[in-house]
Amino acid sequence: MSALPLLDLIEASAKRLTQADVAFGHGTQSAFDEAVWLVLWRLGLPLDTDLDEVADQAVTPEQQAACTALVEERIATRKPAAYLTQEAWLQGVSFYIDERAIVPRSLIAEVLADGTIDAWLSDQTKQVLDLCTGNGSLAVLAALAWPEVHVTGADISDDALAVAAINLERHDLQNRVQLVQSDGLLALPGPFDLILCNPPYVCQASMDALPAEYRAEPELALAGGTDGMDFVRQLFKDVPSRMSEHAVLVLEIGNEVEHFISAFPNLEVAWLDTSAGDDQVLLITRQALLQR
Ligand SMILES: C[S@@+](CC[C@H](N)C(=O)[O-])C[C@H]1O[C@@H](n2cnc3c(N)ncnc32)[C@H](O)[C@@H]1O
Repeated sequence: MSALPLLDLIEASAKRLTQADVAFGHGTQSAFDEAVWLVLWRLGLPLDTDLDEVADQAVTPEQQAACTALVEERIATRKPAAYLTQEAWLQGVSFYIDERAIVPRSLIAEVLADGTIDAWLSDQTKQVLDLCTGNGSLAVLAALAWPEVHVTGADISDDALAVAAINLERHDLQNRVQLVQSDGLLALPGPFDLILCNPPYVCQASMDALPAEYRAEPELALAGGTDGMDFVRQLFKDVPSRMSEHAVLVLEIGNEVEHFISAFPNLEVAWLDTSAGDDQVLLITRQALLQR
């Protein structure tokens, strides 16, 4: 084996991933992007490296072997790349991740970072809840976006909370973000001024058809019952009493818009634009929840 230009190695890795028919959606949407991630990470290069600048950089045979081994591990295990590298990026922020929690990728991160939610906030917004915090990514992004607020990250899973705790430490946010073990809102009296929630919402038919990469994640984080709305139904009953007067709830429902509308036909919601469309993340006022 001889030295190979970096871009050639990435292209060969992408070809291999395509041939093996792996599934994407945990931070990348294509074989090329996934190959870039795996190869740069294995070579110890920053993931935001400008590829044009390093395309011709020579990769030694030993480095090639290490990269190829990682790509083959991705194919053999069908684990999301982030579980192999134990790192995921969301809105340019790095998170620790392992199999105890799902890989950070919530669309709520987009509406949080692009200022969409700010229109519903005021100087009275002090207490933010990230319900179903899992890996803690949304709690961290909220604390970074709004330096004045206190954030509570809550989850039923102690395993997930252990991962969230690592991410709070990574971003030195232990003083502003508190983690609470709670089944839904049971251990959370509130009141909160803003509630973010990316709940388990995948319907049973979609669960049955999930690619292996998604089955590598905790089922508790994904499965939402027959129509995907089991958690959300209980949430809507309980949440008004945990909201301050002008509070809003920002909720991700992914591809379950039809199930959501059938389950809550009279609920007035504002749909928020995301890169995946304008029917995956919604915002609800306390008033609308009380009137439904
Ligand atoms: C889709 S994941 C979201 C994780 C994280 N917020 C994110 O966006 O990457 C859903 C999370 O809900 C948690 N969960 C499931 N049922 C729950 C319940 N009854 N009460 C609280 N959390 C629950 C799971 O443990 C999982 O961490």
